[in-house]
Amino acid sequence: MNNISLIPSSTLCDGITYATSKIGKKRIEMAEEMINKWACHLMDYGELVTESKSGIIVELATGAGFGTCGVTNSGLGAGKLISIDIDYACAANAIGIAKYLKLEEQIDSMVANFWFLPIKNDSIDVVCSHYGLDEAREVNRILVEISRILKVGGKFINVSRNDPTIRIRQTLGHIEFSKEEYMKLASCAGFYCGMDALKKEAEKNDFVLEYHKVYSPGNSHERVISVFKKLKSDRFPGYVPR
Ligand SMILES: C[S@@+](CC[C@H](N)C(=O)[O-])C[C@H]1O[C@@H](n2cnc3c(N)ncnc32)[C@H](O)[C@@H]1O
Repeated sequence: MNNISLIPSSTLCDGITYATSKIGKKRIEMAEEMINKWACHLMDYGELVTESKSGIIVELATGAGFGTCGVTNSGLGAGKLISIDIDYACAANAIGIAKYLKLEEQIDSMVANFWFLPIKNDSIDVVCSHYGLDEAREVNRILVEISRILKVGGKFINVSRNDPTIRIRQTLGHIEFSKEEYMKLASCAGFYCGMDALKKEAEKNDFVLEYHKVYSPGNSHERVISVFKKLKSDRFPGYVPR
């Protein structure tokens, strides 16, 4: 027991405890290190997300904040960023980054589930996600929500592993699912099932795939950046988010 450092419950109740400029600095330094080592896609991702330098960007899955750093590195211009995660300590990373960069007026975080985003219909310019869908469940439900909150013409910019089975094989490798077995299970459980499945489901939600690029760095997994554009808005009349 002596070696276990317990986190006081008061700290656990307060995500803001994690949102310090010191933590923001650490996240930014880690992201820079990551770009040098393997994250060759991160700058392109940031540039695509912040292309218009205006409007409201919603980031799904703050996590460790690496995607957030990619976006802020490219410069928000006059744009605003709301970063969402179900885990408040992760969501707080975005506030830490904002504090360090002195961008608190432009960056905020929200603790919410992607399945029911507390955001109005047709109100957001860009939704982005950096390895968010890879680890979420009910990806099809998340696409419905992304489509609902985006304005017509708005973009959804996503980074995911090209091979959807990598992540699960890292944790369940010892069970030795074949790829085919995994894909069946993943589809039933609503996991991310790869680029083709994502495109098909996005099209059901009024998106068209505008652009995609696969990165094969050699020293790490293949990943794909995809840019979807929302074409119309007539599927959610009168829907009021909870
Ligand atoms: C791999 S991490 C994201 C990595 C992060 N974007 C980065 O670049 O450092 C995945 C995150 O998704 C969050 N997440 C998973 N499912 C979620 C859901 N249904 N709603 C909200 N957050 C979710 C997890 O809490 C986790 O922090």
